[in-house]
Amino acid sequence: MRRAIYPGSFDPVTNGHLDIIGRCRKLFDEIVVAVVVNPEKRPLFSVEERQATLREALGEIETGSCRVVVDSFEGLLMEYAVSQKADAIVRGIRAISDYEYELQMALMNRRLEPRVETVFLMSAEAYSYVSSRLVKEVYALGGSVAGLVPALVEARMREKFGRA
Ligand code: PNS
Repeated sequence: MRRAIYPGSFDPVTNGHLDIIGRCRKLFDEIVVAVVVNPEKRPLFSVEERQATLREALGEIETGSCRVVVDSFEGLLMEYAVSQKADAIVRGIRAISDYEYELQMALMNRRLEPRVETVFLMSAEAYSYVSSRLVKEVYALGGSVAGLVPALVEARMREKFGRA
């Protein structure tokens, strides 16, 4: 039984994240999509809102025989990974610019907990420029994010920004 943790802010979940989960399910028996609780950041959506949106969005994608669960964690990712008896951490890489930061984290995490490997997966080219940060910025300024996030996320953003 192979368990992976897919950690992130997911503020909000994008189609790029869902693409990574779709790829990840072919490699692992269980994926724990873990929303980080970071008191230093001021997210658009609360941890509870992000978890609920993820659960709803995951209901709409094919996960086959892989069990996908949504959770949250606070503190060190590696402590959480050990508590979950995870074999691996999964992170998506969009462009080479992601690589430096991801490499630093992966090596630091390996130093903290050598038993847990980090696995990098490449998202589909169509999502290679999509990030939660840009989605929020574009939407806040009145642009369309259709096709970049699930429709239910667009609806949640509409509510948040009080748009008709
Ligand atoms: O979606 P993000 O914001 O790029 O995800 C970043 C995340 C949650 C993977 C990273 O910030 C993290 O692991 N935070 C938990 C605290 C921790 O373990 N920090 C040391 C990382 S080397």
